[in-house]
Amino acid sequence: MSDPKKLFIKTYGCQMNVYDSERMGAALVAGGYVETDTADDADLVILNTCHIREKAAEKVYSDLGRLRPLRQAKAAGGGKMTIAVAGCVAQAEGAEIVRRQPMVDLVVGPQAYHRLPAMVARSTASGVAEIDTEFPAEDKFDHLPQPPKAQRAPAAFLTVQEGCDKFCAFCVVPYTRGSEVSRPAAKLLSEARDLVSRGVAEITLLGQNVNAYHGAAFDSDWSLARLIRALAEIDGLERIRYTTSHPNDMTDDLIAAHGEVAKLMPYLHLPVQSGSDRVLAAMNRRHTAENYIRVIERVRAARPDIAISGDFITGFPGETEVDFQATLALVREVRYAQSYSFKYSPRPGTPAATAEQVPEAAKADRLARLQTLLTEQQAAFQSDCIGRTLAVLIEKPGRHPGQMVGRSPYLQAVHLDCDPGSTGKIVDAVIIGAATNSLSGRLVTT
Ligand code: 5AD
Ligand code: SF4
Repeated sequence: MSDPKKLFIKTYGCQMNVYDSERMGAALVAGGYVETDTADDADLVILNTCHIREKAAEKVYSDLGRLRPLRQAKAAGGGKMTIAVAGCVAQAEGAEIVRRQPMVDLVVGPQAYHRLPAMVARSTASGVAEIDTEFPAEDKFDHLPQPPKAQRAPAAFLTVQEGCDKFCAFCVVPYTRGSEVSRPAAKLLSEARDLVSRGVAEITLLGQNVNAYHGAAFDSDWSLARLIRALAEIDGLERIRYTTSHPNDMTDDLIAAHGEVAKLMPYLHLPVQSGSDRVLAAMNRRHTAENYIRVIERVRAARPDIAISGDFITGFPGETEVDFQATLALVREVRYAQSYSFKYSPRPGTPAATAEQVPEAAKADRLARLQTLLTEQQAAFQSDCIGRTLAVLIEKPGRHPGQMVGRSPYLQAVHLDCDPGSTGKIVDAVIIGAATNSLSGRLVTT
C-alpha cells in the first residue's frame, strides 16, 4: 500500500475560515488524506485566504512565492504538490490568481468547498487549473463531513449563517461571501449535540452577521435568540457565544437572552467602526453613534457585567479630525474590554474605494491614538478582575509544567496550576495577576 497523501491547510483571517478549514480537512481526510502541520512535503496545500484588507490579501501571494521551491523539490522527487487557493481572495480574484501565479492548480470560493475533492481529482488528471467561484444553491456543509468521531477540544465553532446584505461601503464581505443565508435550526441543534457528545463544552456561533440569523425558509421564525435558548437546553453544553454582530440586529429578544440565559457568556463583540454620525452615514452603517450607545446601555441593563468588544476603522474617506474625536468620545463612553482597530484599506469593487482617500499619515496617527485609548481600557478591564473569582473552562496545557490555560466568561485567557485531567471542565479561580492579554489565577479548592 502506498503512503497516504499529505494535506496542509493554512488559514488566514476570521473564525469562519477556521471552521471552513476544519470541514474541508475532514472531507479530504475522509477521502484518504492525512493532515500535516507543514507544507514541506505536502501533496495538497490549501491556502484558505482573507480579502478583508489589502495586507491580508497580498499575504497569499508572498506565501505562494514561498511554496514554489517546495513544489519544485516535490516534483524533483517524482511527486506533485497540488496548490489550492480557497477563501475570500479566491472568490474575489478568481482566475486572476492563476494568471499572477500559474503554479496554482485550484481556485475555490467559500461556497464551493464541497466540490473540492472532485476538483482535486480533475486537475490532477488533466493538469489544467480548476476554478470554481459559484454560489451554488445547496448548503456546502451538507456535503462536508464532520471531523471524525474523536474527542474534541472543549471549545468549538459552529457556523450558523453566512454572507451579509448590509453593504457597508468599506466591506468586501457581501461580494466574497454573498448574500445572507441562515442554516436550518434543526441541523444546527443536531451538530451542536454531536459536538457535545465529543467533549465540547463551549460553542461559539459564527456568522458574518450572526445576529441577523433567521433560520432557513421552513423555520424562518427562528431568531438567534431562539436558537441560543434551544442550545442552552443541551445537557453538557455549558457555554454559548456568538460573533460577529451588527448593532441594528440587536433585537429585544437577543438582549433579553443576555439577562435570562445563564449559559450565554457575558461577552459581546459589537463593531461600531466610527463614532461620527457623518462617517457612519458615509459608511452606510444605517445607525448613529447614539443608537449604538443605547444598544450597549440596554445590553448592560440586561447583563450588567457584560464585556464589550468592538471593531474600529480610522481614516475612512472623508473622515476629519473632528469626526475622529467623535470616535474617541464614543470609546470613552462605552469603555471596551477588548477591541480590533484598523486603518481604512480601500478594497476593489466597494463603493468607498474610489472616493478621495485620507492621507496615510493621518490614518496611522489616528489609529495610534485610538489604540492608546483602547489599550488603556483593556488594561483597566483586566486589572479590575484581580481579586475576583472567575469560572474558567480549562482548554489546554500552558507553557510551564503543571500549568493549564482556560477561558474566563469574558473570553480572557487564564493561566493557572491545575490537574491536566481538568481539561474540558469549568473550575473556579481567584484572579491574582493581569497582563494585557491574559490573567493568572489560583484554583479555588473546596
Ligand atoms: N478597511 C479596514 N478595515 C476593514 N474592516 C472591514 N473592511 C475593512 C476595510 N476595507 C474591518 C471592520 C470589520 C472588521 C472585520 O474588519 O472593522 O468589522
Ligand atoms: Fe461587512 Fe459587517 Fe458591514 Fe456586513 S455588516 S458589510 S460583514 S462590516
